[in-house]
Formats: sequence, C-alpha cells, structure tokens
Amino acid sequence: MNERDSEHMIAELQEKENYELTSDSTEADLILINTCSVRERPVHKLFSELGAFNKKKKENAKIGVCGCTASHLGKEIIKRAPYVDFVLGARNVSKITEVLHKPKAVEIDIDYDESQFAFSEFRGSQHKAYINISIGCDKSCTFCIVPKTRGDEISIPTDLILKECERATQAGVQEIFLLGQNVNNYGRRFSGEHEKVNFTELLRRISAIEKVKRIRFTSPHPFHMDDEFIDEFASNPKICKSMHMPLQSGSSEILKMMKRGYSKEWFLERAAKLRLMVPNVSISTDIIVAFPGESDKDFEETLDVMRQVRFEQVYSFKYSPRPLTEAAEMSNVVESELGSERLAYLQGLQNSITDEITAGYVGEIFEVMFEETREGGYIAGRSDNNVMIKVQADESLLGTFAKVKVTKNGRMAQIGEILA
Ligand code: 5AD
Ligand code: SF4
Repeated sequence: MNERDSEHMIAELQEKENYELTSDSTEADLILINTCSVRERPVHKLFSELGAFNKKKKENAKIGVCGCTASHLGKEIIKRAPYVDFVLGARNVSKITEVLHKPKAVEIDIDYDESQFAFSEFRGSQHKAYINISIGCDKSCTFCIVPKTRGDEISIPTDLILKECERATQAGVQEIFLLGQNVNNYGRRFSGEHEKVNFTELLRRISAIEKVKRIRFTSPHPFHMDDEFIDEFASNPKICKSMHMPLQSGSSEILKMMKRGYSKEWFLERAAKLRLMVPNVSISTDIIVAFPGESDKDFEETLDVMRQVRFEQVYSFKYSPRPLTEAAEMSNVVESELGSERLAYLQGLQNSITDEITAGYVGEIFEVMFEETREGGYIAGRSDNNVMIKVQADESLLGTFAKVKVTKNGRMAQIGEILA
C-alpha cells in the first residue's frame, strides 16, 4: 500500500507541480520519506535516515515525512527533527500538493475521506498496475496499529476502480494487483450511495475487461474467505492462483486474544478447501511469534498449522508492542530472547518446507509473465501461482508470457528455460 501511496504522490507532484524523479537525493528539491509503523524498528530507522538526508541535501531542499509513522507521531516528528518541512499521514496522501506550500504543515486526519479522489497517473511498472480498492481498516486486531494510522475502512467506488483498470490496460498493463488492508471485505461501506458490490463481484467485473490478463490481490482476511469467494478464486481463470492467508498464530487461544475472528480449525479447513479446489495454489502467510501470553503449547500449534498447510512462503515476525494498540497493554509479555528463539526455529522449519516444495519444481512447466531484468543476462517473472523464475533471455520479452521449464531450483528464484 505504501508503494502505491508513493506512486500517487509522485503522480500528483509530476502533474501539478512539475517535479521529476531523481535517484540522487543530493540533487533533489524535495525528499519524501514514506514510512511504515507496523513494527517498531522502521520507526527508529526514520530518524537516523532523516538526519542523513538532512546532512547531504541541497540547500533549500524540502523534506517531508509521509505514511503511517507520520500519522501516529504527527508534530512530534517536527519536534525531534525541526528541519522537517511537513508531515503527511497515510490517510491524507491526496493533500501532498497542499502541504508542499504550507511550512511545517501537519496533516494527519484519520477521518479524512479520500476514497473518491481521482489521483494523477504514475506507474512504477509498465506491465503491472497496483490499484487501491479500499482505504483504512475496520478490524481491531489487538497487535495492529494500522486502524489508528489509516482510519476506518471505506471502499473505493466500483466504477472508479473499473475505470482505472481500463486505463491501465489501455496503456499496456497486463496484470492488475488490487490493494487494501482487508480486500475481501470490499463493499462493507462506501462513502456515498452505492450499489451493493462485494469483493467476489468486483473480481467478476474486473475479469470481464478483455485486456486484463491476470488479477492478483492482497491482503485478504481468512475470516472473510467464504465459499462464494473461494469458488470464484478457483473457477476464474484470470485470477492468479496464489493466496495470501495471514495466519498470525496457530493457537485458537492466541487468535482470540488477537481478536482475529477465526480459530485454528477454521483456518485449516479453509486452507484445505483451497488446496482441494485449486491443486496448484500457492499459499503464503504472515505469522507473529511471542504475542503476549504465547506458551510453548501455543507456539507448537503454530508449527502444527505450518506442517499441515505447508505454506509456499511465510513472512514471520517477532511481536513488537505498538502504541495505541490493545496488546501493548497486556502484561503477560514473552521474553524477548524466547521470542527470538521461537522465530529462528519457525524460520528453520519453513526453510526446510520451502526447500522441499521448490525441489519439486524442477522439470515442471509454468506460464510466466516476464517483469524485470536480473544480473547476468536474465529476465525474471512470476508464474500465476507466484513462483519466481528467471531465464537467460533478451529484455525485449519483458511484458510477454511464455511457457518455462524449471531446470534448477533455489529458495528465492527458480532458473528455467523458455519452451519453444
Ligand atoms: N508486531 C509484529 N508483527 C506485526 N504485524 C502487524 N503488527 C505487528 C506487531 N505489532 C505483522 C502481521 C501483519 C504484517 C503486515 O505485519 O503479521 O500481517
Ligand atoms: Fe491490522 Fe488486522 Fe486490519 Fe490487518 S486486518 S490491517 S492486521 S487491524
């Protein structure tokens, strides 16, 4: 979401203020840092990076801090780093051209409704388009700061999304990547009168656009994975067969404390249904270890889910207490060292699962869309079930599809050759 917010800011600045992008910060007239606040570490990094940019920047160059940390620290940022020119929250992206001209502006209203703002166009990729379908999040997962930085959930009107898909594909984009904190809750609330359109229906309408070749989305919530949604996922050939299913914990007790709204059994049943209906599906997940109160037994439950589901990819984190969250007030904290041990154990388990899965890719044939160049004369892309594969081939194939046979496997990317 932050990447897409950055694209929106770039677009607004290019079109309305004549800015151009530079990769050299010492040349820049404006330096924007788009921040995350989901875990604590990036927040610390912000202040060291700000100091470094400030030292090297051109005279009179402006510095703006945007994103979730901007939302939750607000004017505190200018107090700690007085050379910062403005602070722009994650829910206020559309005000970028305003704050630019307001010295020391702090725009962090989390009730601001920009769900119908027509942003100018900029895309980091010619082949893939990120498209926001909602802003904010209505859940109250007790570990998560996002509802406090991005505010309540509002769905973006369906016709705006469809128009954006049309525009992007007219410009040559093949893959639409839908974004939201909780995409499969789409349609829960619109800011004005609006026809009832849920996420499944949105997927149907987007796939009806002829030029759309592939649809991906993130993040869905396991709680909202109803049968209608899974059936559409399984049967719609344009929907890529890779699903992110953020587990967070495999213990039903901890899930309750996290207020996730589902149990271990529900999660396992949904994952099994997906694997049954879509045999080549790849399932990725997010897991937090050492949430307050997590016992050895709870942690074992998480490992048990990993062994049963055999996720293709796991993003794992040690619990980090965040301000403004319920979990930060919980007293039964897990010692940091034990948390690190659990994280290392979990990652070791996942590495061996990933190695077993990827070993099985050798000799398999995947349909790949080439997206980027890699060192050594390679181009790389993903299969529809999200396997990253690189082949020795010319850049002119970027943006095209090909059948690729995997010849050698690796944890991060497979090596393959294009079938004639
Ligand atoms: N501590 C650790 N990880 C967190 N995440 C969200 N909040 C926290 C936190 N306080 C993780 C979750 C989420 C992912 C984006 O970040 O796993 O799915
Ligand atoms: Fe955070 Fe939960 Fe919303 Fe995801 S669904 S953004 S974890 S509150």
